[in-house]
Amino acid sequence: MVAKRKFHITTFGCQMNEHDSEIMAGLLEENGYLQASSRDKADIVIFNTCSIRENADKRFFGTLGQLKNRKKTEGENFTVCVCGCMMQQQHIIDTLKEKYPWVDVVFGTHNLHRLPQLLENLYNEKKKQMDIWPEGGEIVEDLPAKRLFPHKSFVNIMYGCNNFCSYCIVPYTRGRERSRKPEDIIKEINGLAQDGVKEITLLGQNVNSYRGYGENGQTDFTDLIYMIADIEGIERIRFMTSHPKDLSDRLIDAFKNCKKLCKYIHLPVQSGSDKVLKAMNRRYSRDDYFRLVEKLRDAVPDIAISTDIIVGFPGETEADFEDTLDLARRVNFDSAFTFLYSVRKGTPAAVAKDQIPEDIKHERFNRLVDVINRSAAEKNLKYRGQVKEILVDGSSRGGNGFCEGRTDEFKLVNFIGDTKLVGEMVKVKITDSNTFSLKGEIQK
Ligand code: 5AD
Ligand code: SF4
Repeated sequence: MVAKRKFHITTFGCQMNEHDSEIMAGLLEENGYLQASSRDKADIVIFNTCSIRENADKRFFGTLGQLKNRKKTEGENFTVCVCGCMMQQQHIIDTLKEKYPWVDVVFGTHNLHRLPQLLENLYNEKKKQMDIWPEGGEIVEDLPAKRLFPHKSFVNIMYGCNNFCSYCIVPYTRGRERSRKPEDIIKEINGLAQDGVKEITLLGQNVNSYRGYGENGQTDFTDLIYMIADIEGIERIRFMTSHPKDLSDRLIDAFKNCKKLCKYIHLPVQSGSDKVLKAMNRRYSRDDYFRLVEKLRDAVPDIAISTDIIVGFPGETEADFEDTLDLARRVNFDSAFTFLYSVRKGTPAAVAKDQIPEDIKHERFNRLVDVINRSAAEKNLKYRGQVKEILVDGSSRGGNGFCEGRTDEFKLVNFIGDTKLVGEMVKVKITDSNTFSLKGEIQK
C-alpha cells in the first residue's frame, strides 16, 4: 500500500484566510490526505497568502525561499502549493514564474475547492498546475472544513467587497460582493450546532451589506442574525467586519434585543480626519462615526468597541493625525489594530504624490498606540470585581495551569482551570486586568 501523503498549511492574514485554510484541510482529509504536525514532516506544503500590507508579501516570499533546497533534493516527493490573495495579482504571478519556478501548484481565492483536483492532476500528468480565476463564479456550497476548535466556528456569509477604499487591495483580490443564500448559511450552522458548536463568527469584508436571496425573498444582515439566534445550541453570535457607512439602526437594536448577539463590535474607523476619510473613499465623516458610537452605547451601555486605524495615509498632515488622536481619545476604544499605511500596487492611493516619510509614520504610530493602550487598560479596569461568563478556549499560551477564554465582549480572560472545561461556559470572577487581558477565578 502506498503511504498516504501528509500536508501542512501555513496561513497568513485575516480570519477569512484562516477559514479558507480550514476548508482546504477538510477537503484534503476527505480525499485521503493526512494532516502533518509541522511543515518539516509534510510531503505537501501549502501557503495561504495575504496581500493586505507589504510586510505580508515579504514574509511569504522569505518563507517560500527556505523550501528551495528541500524541493531540489526531494523533487517529485515534495509538493509546494501557494494560494490566496497574493495569487490574484499579476505582478506576484510574474515574480513566482521568474524566481520560484519550482513551485508545483498555484491557485487563487476563488477556486480553493479545486485543490484536490489540482494535486491529482499534478501527480497524474507530472505537470505544474496554475489555476487562477479572475472573478468568483457561483458560490460553491457544502465544502467540508476541519475546524480549529470544536466549540466555535467561522461561517462565511459573503465573499468579496465593492467598497474600493482607496488604499485597499481586497476588492481586487477577493472580487465583487457575493452573498450566500440564507438557507445555505442556516443549514451549515444547524450542522455545526449538532456537532457541538456554541459560538459562531459570521465572516464577510462588509457584513452589513449582506443581501441573501432565498425562498422567502430578500434577507438582510439583521434578519439573518435573528434567524441564526433561533438555532438551538448556538449560544453566541459574533460577526466581522462592519463598515460604518452601512451599520443600520436595526442592527444596533439587535444588540439590545437579541441575547445571543455578543456585546462587541469591530468597527474600523481608519482615520479621524474628514479630509483623509474622503481621500480614503470611506463615505462617512468623523461626526457620523461619533453618532454611531453614541447610538451603540445608548442601546447597550457596556458594548465593547474595537477598530482599525491607518497611520500615514498619503497627504495626512500633523493636524489630520491629531484629529485621529482626538477621535481615539473621545471614543475610548476597547482595543484597536493600528497599521502603518502600506503602498499596494494597483490601488488609487499607491500613486498619490504626497506619500508620508517612514520616520513620520512611525512617530505617529507610536503616539497613537499610547492613546489606544491607555483606553484599553482603562476599559479593562472596569471589569475588576465583576463575574463574567466565559467560553473556555483552551490552556493559556503562558501555560502554568491557566486556561483562557472570552467574555461576551470578546475580552480575553486567563484563569486557573482544567482543560476539561474547554468548550464550556463558566462563571469567572475578574480579579485583575491589564491592557490586553483580564485575570480571574472560577466561581463555584
Ligand atoms: N495599508 C495599511 N493598512 C491597510 N489596511 C488595509 N489596507 C491597508 C494598507 N494598504 C488595514 C485597514 C483594514 C485592515 C484589515 O487592514 O485598517 O481595516
Ligand atoms: Fe478593503 Fe474597504 Fe473593502 Fe474593507 S471595506 S475590504 S478596507 S475596500
